[in-house]
Amino acid sequence: MNNEQRTANNKAKTRNKFDVDETLETPFSLHHLKRAFVYIKRHSTKLLLSMLASVIASVLQLSVPQMLQYAIDVSVINGNYKEIALLTVGTAVAIFVSLFLMRYRMWTTTKVGQDIIYEIRSDLFQHMQKLPFTYYDNRPHGKILIRVVQYVNSVSNLLSNGIIDFFLELLNLLLIIGFMLRTSPPLTLVCLAGMPVFFAIVFAIKPIQRKSWQNVSNKNSNLNSYAAESVNGMRITQIFAREEKNEEIFEKLAMLARKAHFRAGLIANLVQPCVENISQIIFSGIYVVGILVLRVPATFGTLMAMGNYSWRFWQPINRLSQIYNEFMNTIAYLERIFETMDEQVLIDNAPDAVEMPEINGEVTFDNVTFSYEPGKNILENLSFTIKPGTSIALVGPTGAGKTTIVNLISRFYDVTNGRVLIDGRAVDSVTLRSLRSQMGIMLQDSFIFSGTIADNIRYGRLDATNEEIAAACKVVRADEFISKAENGYDTKVKEHGGNLSQGQKQLIAFARTIIANPRILILDEATSAIDTKTEAYVQAGINHLLSGRTSFIIAHRLSTIRECDLIMYVKDGGISEQGTHDELLAKKGDYYAMYNAQLMEN
Ligand SMILES: Nc1ncnc2c1ncn2[C@@H]1O[C@H](COP(=O)(O)OP(=O)(O)O)[C@@H](O)[C@H]1O
Ligand SMILES: [Mg+2]
Repeated sequence: MNNEQRTANNKAKTRNKFDVDETLETPFSLHHLKRAFVYIKRHSTKLLLSMLASVIASVLQLSVPQMLQYAIDVSVINGNYKEIALLTVGTAVAIFVSLFLMRYRMWTTTKVGQDIIYEIRSDLFQHMQKLPFTYYDNRPHGKILIRVVQYVNSVSNLLSNGIIDFFLELLNLLLIIGFMLRTSPPLTLVCLAGMPVFFAIVFAIKPIQRKSWQNVSNKNSNLNSYAAESVNGMRITQIFAREEKNEEIFEKLAMLARKAHFRAGLIANLVQPCVENISQIIFSGIYVVGILVLRVPATFGTLMAMGNYSWRFWQPINRLSQIYNEFMNTIAYLERIFETMDEQVLIDNAPDAVEMPEINGEVTFDNVTFSYEPGKNILENLSFTIKPGTSIALVGPTGAGKTTIVNLISRFYDVTNGRVLIDGRAVDSVTLRSLRSQMGIMLQDSFIFSGTIADNIRYGRLDATNEEIAAACKVVRADEFISKAENGYDTKVKEHGGNLSQGQKQLIAFARTIIANPRILILDEATSAIDTKTEAYVQAGINHLLSGRTSFIIAHRLSTIRECDLIMYVKDGGISEQGTHDELLAKKGDYYAMYNAQLMEN
């Protein structure tokens, strides 16, 4: 591969990696707007009141010059001081009331805007928590985050103020047209004749404009995604001294975002000169077409008034086109938000799902076939039954499907064919909550949330008392390092447990699992990251955890595997051998080979 090819290849890679799931081609659909309307409708009373307040405030403001004019022209000349005093008070009241109403409107719309944001955000988050692993497997996390935080923010103004302004300006426009019609119907028609031209231009720009804002949202999202990934991977970046290369990628993405924004701004600004030019043309048109060509009879006063109105006529139109522009911008964000909300909840409670009673612990795979991607079976016609309280070791080469098997038991994925049963009930016939709350799952890298050590352990069961937490920690001997920590159980840990060692994190995770008192326990390489000495330490705790529960242990260390009641060797989409340690050694098959290989290593 020559250099050019390599660059082209790299470019394509960068694009593919960060450009997933942003569908720029979706045609404009009313669907998103309707969905947004559901949120707006809940606040319709407040919005209507705000609109009313705005109308009254404008009328009051308009009445002030009228009152002043009357006071000067009539009252002062007549020397009617009572009237002057009354008008002065009236003016003051009008100003105060209108100010109050304006404030009310501002306050209400801000509140409604924030309420809508809050509601959309809550719904979005609620939905995201239901989305299956596959959803998160398939997209950069930064792209998901930007939807919850930034996009939702961007829609608030349009959904509150924008909607009100839209109706107010429309009202304004109708009023002006009314006044114009009263002054001179033929000239009004000349004026209105400009509208189709205006709309033709606006609608011609519309698709370009829409695309340009979608592009902005896409480029922002790419940038955000890369920034998020960089923060998460900073350690690796620094370990491999990749800073320069990353900076290059970041700058490129930032530049693309900048260009997209700039372009969208340019296109948005196209409408403004259109409005101004058309208003000028129509202004002249009234005179030329109206008077000279159509010979509409008009006095000088009428011409003056129509000139004035036609100028005013374009103000609401101008404002409406601005709202329209904002709308185009926002709809690009709404699309992203609702697209996420429309994302299918693949793993959900069946309509007739029942609560899983307390699990006894019999686990059955009944002819299970499973694939992550169609046509690529990871498990094929797998069948086995585990008696309650048995501890199973799943062993086999990397990528054989051990994690997949345990993921199916907790129903993180649905089987493609066959059934997974617990105590004779199919896992997809019970509620997810009742199922998963009885499972204890520990992974190689346990997630530590920001908060205290106690908070992290209590994640296993929210109502656990301090005494229970301490007892759980004692079992896995986590109490030793915790008591040495600055504030004991109240020691703050950072997100990802930055101030803890890998082993300490696992100990906390073990305590978390013990607190949850699960009926089925799954340890997926949970002790791989712990050193042998600590493992020996934890082993007693693990044994305690295992007693009386069905447990699946995926591990590499023979010492851990050996203690299990049953060992299953996973290979080629199924279980090639199963039995106790001694039985499998006597068989001289896959397990035997693995055992010898490990002995050689040690
Ligand atoms: N989320 C996923 N999407 C697609 N393929 C996957 C996914 N997770 C695992 N696989 C594939 O499934 C196979 C089994 O993976 P896994 O069960 O994690 O193996 P093990 O735990 O035995 O190392 C591997 O070939 C892996 O590439
Ligand atoms: Mg695995």
